[in-house]
Amino acid sequence: MNLSALECTYLGKPQERISVLVIGGGGREHSLCYALKRSQSCDAVFCAPGNAGISNSGDATCIEDLDVFDSSAVIAFCRKWEVGLVVVGPEAPLVAGLTNDLLNAGIHAFGPSSEAAALEGSKNFMKSICDKYGIPTAKYETFTDPLAAKKYIKEQGAPIVVKADGLAAGKGVVVAMTLQEAFDAVDTILVNGLFGKAGSSIIVEEFLEGEEASFFALVDGENALPLESAQDHKRVGDGDTGPNTGGMGAYCPAPVLTQELQSLVMSSIILPTVKGMSKEGCKFVGVLYAGLMIEKKSGLPKLIEYNVRFGDPECQVLMVRLESDLAQVLLAACKGELNSVSLEWAPGSAMVVVMASNGYPGSYIKGTKIKNLEEAEVAAPGVKIFHAGTAVDADGNYIATGGRVLGVTAKGKDLEEARDRAYRAVDEIKWEGGFYRNDIGWRALPVKQKSSNW
Ligand code: AMP
Ligand code: GLY
Repeated sequence: MNLSALECTYLGKPQERISVLVIGGGGREHSLCYALKRSQSCDAVFCAPGNAGISNSGDATCIEDLDVFDSSAVIAFCRKWEVGLVVVGPEAPLVAGLTNDLLNAGIHAFGPSSEAAALEGSKNFMKSICDKYGIPTAKYETFTDPLAAKKYIKEQGAPIVVKADGLAAGKGVVVAMTLQEAFDAVDTILVNGLFGKAGSSIIVEEFLEGEEASFFALVDGENALPLESAQDHKRVGDGDTGPNTGGMGAYCPAPVLTQELQSLVMSSIILPTVKGMSKEGCKFVGVLYAGLMIEKKSGLPKLIEYNVRFGDPECQVLMVRLESDLAQVLLAACKGELNSVSLEWAPGSAMVVVMASNGYPGSYIKGTKIKNLEEAEVAAPGVKIFHAGTAVDADGNYIATGGRVLGVTAKGKDLEEARDRAYRAVDEIKWEGGFYRNDIGWRALPVKQKSSNW
């Protein structure tokens, strides 16, 4: 469809058309491309490196050989293809300073500078912002000396939490139920140096008891706009058991975050952080993803950690429900104009069931064949499959190339319908090398047994 400039409006104003480059190649990036592709103002969507499924779905043109850690290559690409907005998905290019370089080159980039990304990259930095601006979080101390850390742990008692300061691929946190586990964690991180520089200092913090929840807000340096609530399941097994993963499924909205709690999170955590970062001369632009503990004792939210990117797979359920022009929303964030934006969401709910390679999050075999994806996408209304790690083999079959491989997403009038649709699509997929959880959404819904209902 060819839209004239007048037909393409946002908030009543005619909009320039824009080409967008998404950085990353997982399910999160696929869902961002999908929402951008639906944006009225978006002319072209590129994704680097992307993956075969993103490319075949037609949601973006994937640029496999663009090195996203080479800022000059990214800038040259943007100039060549007249890209007006770069959306950075994962944290690593943010921490490496990709948005700093893009902004210096005069290209709008959605995502924090490397300095602001320290909210995720350094737990110490995050905690010091909490201290200075009165943001509720677990009580803590910082250590570089293992003996001093152990003395503090003995004084505080178990359970207690030991964390490497820097990014440790999600493995730098030990929730120690005994003193010995906490001492071992100190040795592993500070003495044996398991995480290298990321573990040259640790924080030891109070164990918080309660229900975990995630909260997402778009931030433009001064203003913050909350997104719909979304919640993931981190453990690999049904009933939230087994090792931690990046997330085996998610749903939106998440009833744990009532309207009242959402307002409280905005006023006590998100807005003080945004204002604090601005006062520190370190304005935050991008998505603030707060990991929260709703404390059992008080019912009040405390900040466990910040991520400076969209959660994955939470982003997938958010993007299928978003009805606003995503390109214009993200551009408004880059321009400091979020106060004039309000977001529109499709009514009802969405759910995503992640399909992963057998063995994930441990070692797994790559290259197993996946069939029937087209059939699955029409197995029920409102289904969309996002590709997190797929390639196409010489015979044209999809094969798995990663741990988390597919995000089977569905919308419905309520969470139950979204779940039924998502699992109907999952049932259609033929993949011997993969598995999924049967109980996504169980905290929000009574559990239905697969055998009796599908
Ligand atoms: P983080 O990487 O800081 O999000 O920590 C990973 C996980 O460890 C969180 O999702 C929580 O389940 C748990 N965790 C971290 N900090 C605490 C804490 N202070 N009290 C209880 N659990 C925690
Ligand atoms: N789903 C959790 C994360 O993106 O870190």
